[in-house]
Amino acid sequence: MKAPQMRVPHPGPKTREQLERLGRYEAKAGLSSGMTPDTVMIERALGAEVEDVDGNVFLDFVSGFGSLNAGHCHPRVVEAVREQAGKLHQAMSLGSKVRLDLEEKVISLVGGVAPKKILFGASGGEAVETAIKLACRATGRQEIVGFTGGFHGRSLGALPFMGRKSQREGLGALVPGAHHVPYPYPYRNPFGRSPNDCVEGTIAYIEEFLKNPASGWGEVAAIMTEPVQGNGGMIPAPLGFLRALRELCDRYRVLFICDEVMSGFARTGRMFAYQHEEGVEPDLVVMGKSLSGGLPLSACVAKSEIADASPPGSETGTYAGNVLSCAAGLASIAVYEDENLADRAERMGGYFLERLGELAERHPVVGEVRGRGLMLAAELVSDRQTREPLPIAKEASEMAVKKGLFLYPGGHYKNVLAFMPPIVTDEAQIEAAVGIVDEILLELSEKG
Ligand SMILES: Cc1ncc(COP(=O)(O)O)c(C=O)c1O
Repeated sequence: MKAPQMRVPHPGPKTREQLERLGRYEAKAGLSSGMTPDTVMIERALGAEVEDVDGNVFLDFVSGFGSLNAGHCHPRVVEAVREQAGKLHQAMSLGSKVRLDLEEKVISLVGGVAPKKILFGASGGEAVETAIKLACRATGRQEIVGFTGGFHGRSLGALPFMGRKSQREGLGALVPGAHHVPYPYPYRNPFGRSPNDCVEGTIAYIEEFLKNPASGWGEVAAIMTEPVQGNGGMIPAPLGFLRALRELCDRYRVLFICDEVMSGFARTGRMFAYQHEEGVEPDLVVMGKSLSGGLPLSACVAKSEIADASPPGSETGTYAGNVLSCAAGLASIAVYEDENLADRAERMGGYFLERLGELAERHPVVGEVRGRGLMLAAELVSDRQTREPLPIAKEASEMAVKKGLFLYPGGHYKNVLAFMPPIVTDEAQIEAAVGIVDEILLELSEKG
């Protein structure tokens, strides 16, 4: 394979035939419509390249939404899954050596001073719910603070319908109260545009709600944040923010949940993105996606006293900690470490950001380029002075697919081209992707 290579215009004849069948059987709600109305029908994939049923080869700069940091079908991950499948592929939540080894490894990667325990799930959203339940049970409180533009999963919460009382104990009304505060987003922030103003303003704003008895907030159990907002438009929180948030949480005895589902596992240049700030130790770390290199697995690592506040068996499920996924997890983490993918993400991210910066010089619609490691973005505006958002990310991403590139249309205002290539991507692939984005921006500006 050599991407991009469009043998026939997308969607090709086999794709069209399969799409027609897909439309008959699968509800649109189940398909990712972010990149194209004509879903790509994938036949095989390797590294950063994806081949469809018509033989078109695409460059995948979305990486299964960040679940493929080592790339598609990394041989060591494939081999580990093959070997495990021949021995044991489902043990529900009974113990197994492979699961135990992964637990030990993941907890060591989270590190920190306080002892930790792990709880598995199958999806990122599940692990987020676990973190919220743990925080509510451990604190006896029922409100969670999140950030504007945050993304933590799509599940509604099956627990209100759970007949067994023991599973609902300690969780009060079950659906925790949610509050939103502005994310520290220097390009668009009500508290000022320098990273420092942004950090200080955001922290002061949250503090006002926590301390003012008339703020409308009740008893807050936890504050949950992504260290780099992913779906929100690849916005790295300015360095210093997580430390300030940690201190704020300590002052008000509120728990700090760090959602690393997208930013984890070498993606930003550290094993976890919060580790860019030395000494910051979240109370709960949520992870998924690249934890297991693309197999369904997620986890919540919590300080032991928090994890142990929930009753036995209350945070598990049929596929939580599935042994095939655990084997893939161990192999994936070995790849991240042996191939120094955190360093590579930092290096290739720097290279990619520079290339995006050159695009910004040529195209006035690019208001800002930003990122940390290989979570990168170009934010589009109709006017650089006023920073008026130009909500054409979806149109641009559809054009990109036709040219053989997957990119993610995101952002608070649907105006961000987001890039999250596998970390194994090389310079030539980055050049090819930047070339396609250049063409698209030119075509869009000619269209007016
Ligand atoms: C930061 C973050 N948290 C949670 C999730 C939910 O993960 P899943 O889709 O596996 O439920 C996502 C998904 O994109 C995410 O980006």
